[in-house]
Amino acid sequence: MNLLERIREWVRPALAALVSETAVIEELLGTIRTAGRPEHGDYQINAALPLAKRLGRPPRQIAEELLRHLPPAEAWETPEIAGPGFINLRYRNSFLAETLTAVAADERLGVAPVRPPRRYVIDYSSPNVAKPLHVGHLRSTILGDALTRLLRFLGHTVITDNHLGDWGTQFGILIYGYKHFVDPQAYAADPVRELARLYVHVRSLFRKKGDDDEDEDGGDDPIRQACRLETARLHAGDPENLALWRQFLPHCLEMIERIYRRLGILPFDYQLGESFYHPFLPAIVEEMLARGLAEESEGAVVIPNPAGRIPRTPEEWQRDDPPGILRKRDGAFTYLATDLATIRYRVEHFQPDAILYVVDARQALHFRTLFAQARRWGYNQVELHHISFGTILGEDRRPFASRTGGAPELEELIEQAVRLGRHKYEQSRQERLAQGHKLPDLSDAEIAAIAEAVGIGAIKYADLSQNRTSDYVFSYDKMLATDGNTATYMQYAYARCRSIFREGNVAEERFRTQPPPIQITHPSERALALQLLRFPEALQAAASEYLPHYLTNYLWELAKTFSGFFEHCPVLKAEPASLRDSRLLLVDLTARILRQTLELLGIRTVERM
Ligand code: ARG
Repeated sequence: MNLLERIREWVRPALAALVSETAVIEELLGTIRTAGRPEHGDYQINAALPLAKRLGRPPRQIAEELLRHLPPAEAWETPEIAGPGFINLRYRNSFLAETLTAVAADERLGVAPVRPPRRYVIDYSSPNVAKPLHVGHLRSTILGDALTRLLRFLGHTVITDNHLGDWGTQFGILIYGYKHFVDPQAYAADPVRELARLYVHVRSLFRKKGDDDEDEDGGDDPIRQACRLETARLHAGDPENLALWRQFLPHCLEMIERIYRRLGILPFDYQLGESFYHPFLPAIVEEMLARGLAEESEGAVVIPNPAGRIPRTPEEWQRDDPPGILRKRDGAFTYLATDLATIRYRVEHFQPDAILYVVDARQALHFRTLFAQARRWGYNQVELHHISFGTILGEDRRPFASRTGGAPELEELIEQAVRLGRHKYEQSRQERLAQGHKLPDLSDAEIAAIAEAVGIGAIKYADLSQNRTSDYVFSYDKMLATDGNTATYMQYAYARCRSIFREGNVAEERFRTQPPPIQITHPSERALALQLLRFPEALQAAASEYLPHYLTNYLWELAKTFSGFFEHCPVLKAEPASLRDSRLLLVDLTARILRQTLELLGIRTVERM
């Protein structure tokens, strides 16, 4: 059950007694917030002020009237009016206690499946596969994976599709490299490594080192031009190049799949790359020409913008649908054409309500163009969303140097995080032992598993805890801190909960099959109960805006509240037994919710640390 939803349902009839427009009622319901301070209750209704303005009457009077119209309810204390007309609401302790005991018996921890569920296609990770993954591929992969887990948990159907860049000019580079520089022995021994070497080698021969600009026409750079020629031959069906492409592709996929496995990314339902859509493109372009949606211009096929002018100023970009190119003068089909074909395919085969594209903010213009053109083409039922995200910066606050092809390879980043994670963990273990803590004896395998969970968890959490729309600095130090809003802190909190059960020799089972009544005897017990009940609200908020950092914010609040509880409320030593049981239940629920939330973020927990 969602506490906030529950309040909204309760307040709705009271608002309806004062205003009739549904839209206004919805807006006013949006003013209900969690209270900033405990003395303001649990939630605040801030509707009286805007309503007073609307009705031209004093806010306090409006607040009083709202209270009179509230239906009788068992769940709340008598609401209080504060200041100019805020209404403070406080759940009754008995309500919190009873609801929480019910949640404990629920495998879904109080989260009701959404009604009605929706069908999503999520397009994420989607790397260009001819080269090793680098830091730039991290965000889409991590964010997309977390959103998939979250939406599925809520009960939606999610079809994941890795839109691999498996047909682009990077393959021209590989083919050119292979034809001129391959070391056959090295290729036979380790094709993945040899292909990666060839890619880097050919790029180093380019005169001007561009960003990922293999798409530019090569200018007068002979090697670039030669690579483009190989790509063009591949696209034209040249048997030799096609055979090389078929030979390379599985190795390229192996390269990225190794990293997905290590990161613990869910397996994709589909990996329909750009090459899959290539055969559809000529007919689609013909169709768009025939329907007058596209036109030929100097040998290229373009979609003009309806206003018939090329937008130049930012205002014009805002106002007009951007124009687009479907086929270039040299006959090459564009990224845009492929993406239009992809929308058609997805709509026909998966019938989604929405397609989410988890892609770098720098592609905003592409998606604006794509969505506008897809709608004009007739795909105006399906929701299309660009789930855009900012850039990962180096410690110097500048984007990692992908311009010189020097962006750190993802595999090395992961390796380093795990190494440092292990070091940190062993250090903190020594410190805790020195302070006289009893710690479990751990095998080498267990320590390695902890290092992996800590290192990879740190990378993921650092990313997911940022508002995805902002840039952030990649810092091992910050992400591996054992204190603060980090994965490690949450993993420790989880292990600590578990250790309480081990220490007291208590089996968790009973707390789930026959949860005991919760007793609220201390403010920090109450705060924890309330925070645990807010779990569904946090999931809902994260899902409705596709913002996983709402989940990490929730985790952070939960972990802090738990630590306050732990400080003030003895658990194993509590008496009588009913109070001890109640507190053990709070600990078990904290552990379950920590673990479930981390799992939704794709982060592993360990039972003992
Ligand atoms: N392969 C593209 C890149 O690396 C991202 C593809 C995103 N998905 C899409 N349907 N356009 O930039």
